[in-house]
Amino acid sequence: MKPFKIMSIFGTRPEAIKMAPIIKELEQQQDVFESIVVVTGQHREMLEQVLASFGITPDYNLDIMAEKQTLESITALSLNGLSEIIAKERPHMVLVHGDTTTSFAGGLAAFYNQVPLGHVEAGLRTHDKYSPFPEEINRGMTGVLADLHFAPTVESAKNLLKENKSASNIFVTGNTAIDALKTTISDDYTHPLLEQTKHKKMILLTCHRRENLNQAMDNIFAAVNEVTRERDDVAVIFPVHLNPEIREKVAKHLYANENVHLIGPLETVDFHNIANHADFIMTDSGGVQEEAPSLDVPVLVLRDNTERPEGVDAGTLKVIGTNKEDIKIWMNRLLDDDILHKKMSLATNPYGDGHAATKILTHIHHYLTEQYKLMYNCIER
Ligand code: UD1
Ligand code: UDP
Repeated sequence: MKPFKIMSIFGTRPEAIKMAPIIKELEQQQDVFESIVVVTGQHREMLEQVLASFGITPDYNLDIMAEKQTLESITALSLNGLSEIIAKERPHMVLVHGDTTTSFAGGLAAFYNQVPLGHVEAGLRTHDKYSPFPEEINRGMTGVLADLHFAPTVESAKNLLKENKSASNIFVTGNTAIDALKTTISDDYTHPLLEQTKHKKMILLTCHRRENLNQAMDNIFAAVNEVTRERDDVAVIFPVHLNPEIREKVAKHLYANENVHLIGPLETVDFHNIANHADFIMTDSGGVQEEAPSLDVPVLVLRDNTERPEGVDAGTLKVIGTNKEDIKIWMNRLLDDDILHKKMSLATNPYGDGHAATKILTHIHHYLTEQYKLMYNCIER
């Protein structure tokens, strides 16, 4: 039998990091799968960094990114470009990841071409339409289009069951973020910034969400600025997202603060290892919330809600919102209260054993084999 052709579609940094273990596993299983990698280029430099880190060369790159791009432009350009590639390649299955606009457009393009769709990291929900925006609706719509749902946890599988998706097409696999972490973390890791900050408590900060791109982000940066100016025992490492709107706000609040190390986006290996050495993390990122429990590093989540309740239940994550005074209180509390810090550090990772990619491919192989058995049976009759 010829190998099944699997087309992986992604466009941004987090999708690339979490699809990389699947692409690597597809390459390992060449006797049963042919792997086609398609990127929309919704991100450019930040995507290139991940592709280089994991040694992935896309077969197609739509290269759509524009400065201050809109949701409409990402959707339209991705949908048109992806549909053409799917029509040309006719894969047996398309895989998309998570909740970006690329994921949704990829799912829609697969549907328009009547190609089965597998959704990796399926079932995350806040049940709040505009938070995160537009991810909550992107993932819901991708779920509607998907034939197979790879849920990272039992909690996310339950969300899908509540939406009446067929239990036989939902698989709890763990999160491929943990697979990726297993390849990046090393005990003997060093970095000049770790040397520079080693005599202080080190906080790793990331912040990029669209719904925070208003007063919320000003509050976050103002709080970080005030706390780090008030006390000299703290250093913040802040790899700043390349979105120019974010960079303007960073410049306004944090540029002149010597305790805040402003740097560009870090390579995945560097980010994971610096996170591993952080006293704690402050972030509005989704992926970072999944990684921190594996690293035993507490996280203050700079959002009003999270689709990752497992990390909250495990004790690693504390959702603190975006009010300036609340952020200052929580920063100081976690810096000073060793018992709280220890409690938040000792959680158990709820996102799987690092073998999610293999599990996903086993389910895909089984599904496609069954589909083709059915098809051949019909032809023979
Ligand atoms: C996107 C995803 C979000 C995900 C995030 C991960 C959507 C709508 N949003 O948000 O779900 O959490 O990626 O980081 O799918 N830019 C560059 N170079 C890059 C990347 C971005 O210059 O490599 C700049 C561009 O000016 C671009 C802007 O950042 O227009 C915003 O990028 P975009 O992908 O639209 O939004 P993100 O906030 O990155
Ligand atoms: N990350 C990275 N370099 C950085 C910041 C983050 O490699 O400078 C990684 C991080 O480890 C995680 C992913 O990027 O795997 C999260 O991406 P992001 O926060 O951009 O998106 P989200 O997860 O919120 O969709």
